[in-house]
Amino acid sequence: MSSQNHLARRSFLGASASLLLSGPSGALSAQAVNAEAKSSTMIVHSRKPEDYEMPLDGFLQPITPIELFYVRSHHYTPQVDLETFTLRVSGEVSAPFSISLRDLKKLPRIELVGVMECAGNGRAFYAPRVPGLQWTNGSVGNARWAGVRLADVLKKANLKPSAKNIVFDGADQAIGTMPKFQRSIPVRKGLDPDTMLAFEMNGQPLPVAHGAPLRVVVPGWGGDCWTKWLTGIQVIDHEFEGFFMKTGYRHPGKGVPPGSTVDPAQMKPIESVRVKSVIATPKDNIIMPQGPSRIAGAAWSGEVPLDKVEVSIDGGRSWVAARFTSSNGRWGWQTWDYAWNATPGTYKIMSRATDANGYSQPMEQEWNPSGYLWNVIQTVRAEVVPLTNTSYRSSCLGCHNEDLMRGQKLTRAQWEREVEKMMRWGSQVPADHKASLVDYLAARFKP
Ligand code: HEC
Repeated sequence: MSSQNHLARRSFLGASASLLLSGPSGALSAQAVNAEAKSSTMIVHSRKPEDYEMPLDGFLQPITPIELFYVRSHHYTPQVDLETFTLRVSGEVSAPFSISLRDLKKLPRIELVGVMECAGNGRAFYAPRVPGLQWTNGSVGNARWAGVRLADVLKKANLKPSAKNIVFDGADQAIGTMPKFQRSIPVRKGLDPDTMLAFEMNGQPLPVAHGAPLRVVVPGWGGDCWTKWLTGIQVIDHEFEGFFMKTGYRHPGKGVPPGSTVDPAQMKPIESVRVKSVIATPKDNIIMPQGPSRIAGAAWSGEVPLDKVEVSIDGGRSWVAARFTSSNGRWGWQTWDYAWNATPGTYKIMSRATDANGYSQPMEQEWNPSGYLWNVIQTVRAEVVPLTNTSYRSSCLGCHNEDLMRGQKLTRAQWEREVEKMMRWGSQVPADHKASLVDYLAARFKP
């Protein structure tokens, strides 16, 4: 490899270049990149092909770090040769062309924060269950994308009046005899000034796991049309007939009887995602000390902008406004929080996002055959026990940490004896805190 090529690749890969292996052909080793790019806290649904989910804590971050950003792959991650990479634009255009990455980058650069959500996010919550990856909350992420407008690329090719749909093709290859994963979007969305071919994510060169060197960014729409490793754009004058448009990724547009089957012809391709919010903290089934606390998470919407998020601690009987803690623009998610002074009791904590049309997340989810577009209001059960976290910490976590407590599953009487033993061993427990400390331990670490 010439030193000039080497430099080009280094600058393309930026900071992560030193982590990568490159073969004699100059192809990136996708495995090396992906292994480096993924946090060990991600929920692994499949390693081959790669399907990784963001853990709940990710919803506290205004911008999702790349190592936490979910990965969905229908096929194996391809080896992409940056030196020979070209994008081909063809079909219902009067000037078809192929373009290198270098030349593509000469088009005007745009940047936006955009949330990408898998149409199947939340599938694991559907009852009866439906086949497919059992995503819980985290097949969604919010990144800063930079690239060029798809509209500028299409303008260069000069769309014919017959142009109706735009079919994206990636460098990945179908496995076995499965149909190739390909999606199309209508020309109308393709010409939207925010629809992008991205080569950067969060200020870094796009990682291979996220589609390097080029990924389609379709703000507001499901991740299925955000094609990775983009090598081809074909403009067609009809509905695209590919399996993942005609059969997969379709929704009946309304609820259907749970467990029923629906003819794909009676369904429509998934386009916009729905307004939704997720609570990152507190976690479900938590037992927490009384005192000042915080309910927080993220909320987003699709084609219709997000308007507001409200919080309930009484299972949806009353609601109060949450406060936005980010300003990620029209297409990004917004982090939000609510300051909660928790008093002892049991609570059903909920968050509810509403879009600019006044449509709010529902209390009950309508069922659909492939488990798409889950956006029901989430419930987090919390038990608030007397005693502040601070005094538990100061009395009990000075000599050892909580691991010792967690292993014990004791009754209240046993905890009382344990506390007395620790007091003999040097634990400082204020006399008027002893009973509530025992309550707290007995509630958290019970048989
Ligand atoms: C002054 C230091 C100190 C403080 C403070 C302290 N512990 Fe301990 N704790 C110990 C030691 C030492 C052990 C024994 C470690 C061993 O032998 O493995 C222990 C062990 C334990 C064990 C394991 C079971 C056992 O009895 O050996 C539990 C449970 C425990 N502590 C709970 C608590 C609780 C609850 C508090 C707060 C009320 C507390 N500790 C505060 C020193 C302390």
